Amino acid sequence: MTQSHDMARSKVRYAVVGGGEISQRAFMPGIARSEISEMTALVTGDPKKAEVLGERYGLKVYGYDDYDTLLRSGEIDAVYVATPNFRHHDDSIPALEAGIHVLLEKPMATSVADGEAMIEAAERGGAKLMIAYRLHHEPGTLEMIDHMRRGTIGAPLAFSSQLTQDLHPANHRAKHGYWAGPVPDMGAYPINAVRHLFGQEPIEVSAMGDDRPGRDYDCTDSVSVSLRFPEGRLAQFFVSYSASGLNALNVVGEKGTLFSRPCYAFGPDVSITYELSVDGQTQSHSAGAVEQFGGQIDYFSQCILDGVEPEADGIEGLRDMRILEAIERALDSGQPQPLEPLAYRDRMRPDQVRRFATVERPEVVSVATITGD
Ligand SMILES: NC(=O)c1ccc[n+]([C@@H]2O[C@H](COP(=O)([O-])OP(=O)(O)OC[C@H]3O[C@@H](n4cnc5c(N)ncnc54)[C@H](OP(=O)(O)O)[C@@H]3O)[C@@H](O)[C@H]2O)c1
Repeated sequence: MTQSHDMARSKVRYAVVGGGEISQRAFMPGIARSEISEMTALVTGDPKKAEVLGERYGLKVYGYDDYDTLLRSGEIDAVYVATPNFRHHDDSIPALEAGIHVLLEKPMATSVADGEAMIEAAERGGAKLMIAYRLHHEPGTLEMIDHMRRGTIGAPLAFSSQLTQDLHPANHRAKHGYWAGPVPDMGAYPINAVRHLFGQEPIEVSAMGDDRPGRDYDCTDSVSVSLRFPEGRLAQFFVSYSASGLNALNVVGEKGTLFSRPCYAFGPDVSITYELSVDGQTQSHSAGAVEQFGGQIDYFSQCILDGVEPEADGIEGLRDMRILEAIERALDSGQPQPLEPLAYRDRMRPDQVRRFATVERPEVVSVATITGD
């Protein structure tokens, strides 16, 4: 048994790969909430981050050229991969093959083939792969899914959602085509939400997109997507890099409606909030702000220590990836794209919810701004 698989260890030791916005703002402070997790190393190409973050969190710092050395050092059990989407494959596969568990940011990859290669690498290396769907551990999200399962608003007929932001053109998301663009970056949220709210997998996708004049993005910056599900259920979502910020969803059911805003956000003051309207009566529910990153880290560490597969495994990531690929084909061709029918996997459990107190946002170092004017 290798040191990284020593289940007698009470804390899972993580290295952060990529000291960008989400690592600094969310993972690095959030891990403190999990008593079974600790952060011991950072992989970065930025000397300033190496110095400041290494000192702030007491981390051993590696460059990308030394990644293999870190993976075989016996100093870590897991990595959190938070590099740009186009790096996910190359940053995850060596870790998985070395038997190091991987918590991988969404979207899983930039192709279904790359996602499948990750799953195979995890099997070869005997490592666990979890996609960082932080909302799978957030109480309000699981409550909404539970209401849908219990038929509170009857059978769902339609879903619609908007997730928008005003992205600074200097951000890397604006510079690497479709797979860095708003559909994989933000569409991953409504796609994942509607699959679990409907408890179904879609069977057809169509999409149209456009660009806001004057914006210099290497991707279509605003996209509207329609999804057909079995039993006549329809879904639609809109994502944009060139709009004011909104994150909201609603579901129309046979006997009532569900509306949620905010539904995808996180942060010290963010409480996922939803309204259920049935028979003319509306009830509002606020889950309360929880430390979403600390929660997902804690859940993944528990899976590692217990030797069980995480709920948001590689297959879960792939199920969103095949939809993201179909949307790309729909945008390129202008034609609806059929999807192979798949049985829904009913795997979410109440015990994957974590209710840790939120942490303050630390000062970030050398991060290219996301939000524009
Ligand atoms: N779960 C969520 O709520 C959430 C929110 C935002 C983003 N994300 C996901 O997290 C990932 C990272 O997003 P982010 O917002 O943190 O991006 P970011 O601020 O640009 O950070 C990415 C980091 O990756 C490293 N990197 C390595 N190779 C790179 C390259 N060739 N070009 C640019 N950076 C490179 C850099 O860190 P070093 O300088 O340290 O090497 C960079 O700062 C994405 O997959 C995104 O979809 C998830």
